[in-house]
Amino acid sequence: MSEFQSVRGFHDLFGEDLKKFRHVSNLIREKLKLYNFEEIVIPVLEYLEVFQRSIGEATDIVQKEMFAFQDRKGRWIALRPEGTAGVVRAYVQNRLYALKPYAKLFYEGPMFRHERPQAGRYRQFHQIGAEVFGPLDPLVDAEMIQLVYEILSELNIKATIEVNSIGCKSCRPAYREALSLYLNALERRLCEVCLDRKGRNPLRVLDCKVPTCKEAVKDAPKMLDFLCKECGEHHFKLKEYLNTLSIPYRENPNLVRGLDYYTKTVFEAVSADMNITLIAGGRYDYLVEEMGGPPTPAVGFAVGLERLSMLFKEHVREEPLYMVVPFGDVLDYALFIAKVLRSEGKRVELSYRRGSLKKQLELANRLGVRYAVLVGEEEKAGGFYTLKDMETGEQLRVEFSPSL
Ligand code: HAM
Repeated sequence: MSEFQSVRGFHDLFGEDLKKFRHVSNLIREKLKLYNFEEIVIPVLEYLEVFQRSIGEATDIVQKEMFAFQDRKGRWIALRPEGTAGVVRAYVQNRLYALKPYAKLFYEGPMFRHERPQAGRYRQFHQIGAEVFGPLDPLVDAEMIQLVYEILSELNIKATIEVNSIGCKSCRPAYREALSLYLNALERRLCEVCLDRKGRNPLRVLDCKVPTCKEAVKDAPKMLDFLCKECGEHHFKLKEYLNTLSIPYRENPNLVRGLDYYTKTVFEAVSADMNITLIAGGRYDYLVEEMGGPPTPAVGFAVGLERLSMLFKEHVREEPLYMVVPFGDVLDYALFIAKVLRSEGKRVELSYRRGSLKKQLELANRLGVRYAVLVGEEEKAGGFYTLKDMETGEQLRVEFSPSL
């Protein structure tokens, strides 16, 4: 074991894993551009209040999972546990609402949560998130879910899209009350954590993974039965649009999400192979206003890049690799040929090992080279190179007139 280890839950990304990670990220970025999302780059650090106010004081993230510390002046700052809070802070601070009637923003980068590390769960992980500010129309919720569906389909990742509505300021309090009453009556069947949650954040009990709690909340009152007219219509319309788009989804009345800012629509894409959430999001119609901006409904989602990359099983295709293999005193010519080939857009490695042609071709094989570009005295004198296909063994003389 080497003397220095990375911090627990913080990982290095390289090789094949990184290729998959970049492939997944690029595919999502391309998709977001097709929907006309614009990128925003936000800081990794924010003042702690940004997260406390948006994600919610009573959430697990804020209570237990933040990397928070005091700066040299004694102000509390935190590594971002997610992107929405920072984007909303940036939207309000930079008055982005004044620029366009509505904004469609996306971001990508590392997030930090002090959770117990396990498969697909890290303390530093990466998200790509997308947020739409302005419209209240369920059409936008539908388009966000459509995006999620398209991302998963194009990556060939099997997942179930779960949808729910958790209502708004006018209808949720009555539901909370009904749920609290119900939970009080079955206190003895709840786990320790849920006993604590019950008072502060009763909705969270609904998605507890402990079997006894799951069983206990089976017959709990459902938010869907408490939705006000506006939320009910919103939810109905959303489902209608999803049907129009032929997007398969499952209505999960117990889906509540672990962040407090949500209103109305919430959704998650849950992996069919592993029981983990891959993409999650929803509406948050009050957050911009609560963070000091004008009343601005919003909806968004975030993709867990490690999780999607882990489940992406296809081989990432790359451009064929060329290797210029000099033999004899022709390094200047080899350098030149490599330059010419790269200027043609080819991926080119120049052999850094000297030795017999045989040794160098062995090296080329180990590096996964598809075409060896052989250059010796004869090639240099004649102004050509010999292209060797490493798969078929075929050789070809390629003429060109170098102007050294
Ligand atoms: P979230 O559900 O907390 O939502 O996280 C979104 C996704 O990030 C998860 O579905 C998962 O794929 C990934 N993720 C979360 N924690 C970890 C972890 N410890 N290790 C690896 N991956 C993880 C949000 O963050 C919201 N901001 C989403 C959103 C955007 N809602 C509206 N707009």
